[in-house]
Amino acid sequence: MAIRNIRNNNDDNILLHKRAKRVESINHKILMLLEDMAETMYKEEGVGLAAPQIGILRRLVVIDIGTGLTKLINPEIIEQGGQQQGIEGCLSVPGVTGEVIRPQRVRIRAQNETGAYIELEGNDLLARAICHEIDHLNGVLFIDKIVSVPRFYNNNYYKG
Ligand code: CO
Repeated sequence: MAIRNIRNNNDDNILLHKRAKRVESINHKILMLLEDMAETMYKEEGVGLAAPQIGILRRLVVIDIGTGLTKLINPEIIEQGGQQQGIEGCLSVPGVTGEVIRPQRVRIRAQNETGAYIELEGNDLLARAICHEIDHLNGVLFIDKIVSVPRFYNNNYYKG
């Protein structure tokens, strides 16, 4: 396993706005990449990380909101409902936070490490994590969606 460099929007703004490609073959290289992404996310104290953030334009996401590590390959939202407004930051946009509106709940379809298709439902923070990270796969950063800049906040905001 290895810690990867996180790309930031000052140096890699164009790359971070590109759409990532589907993973067609879940091979050893992809599995190692997911391991590296998880290790990098934990080291940077994020709760989510998408492959474009380490410079790889593939549809891979890792998330751990404190309930265990989830690795998602080719995730897509198949249902969503409700609305929540909350503060986000991003490992690729250092020093910036802002309020973003997300669905309250989402249902996604993705492949796991064996290639099997799984469905997963997330509410609240998990829904926010899923949306923030899938946005990365589509070349969208949270700063493109900020509705207001928080006047007050503690350290308890989404960071991925
Ligand atoms: Co981010």
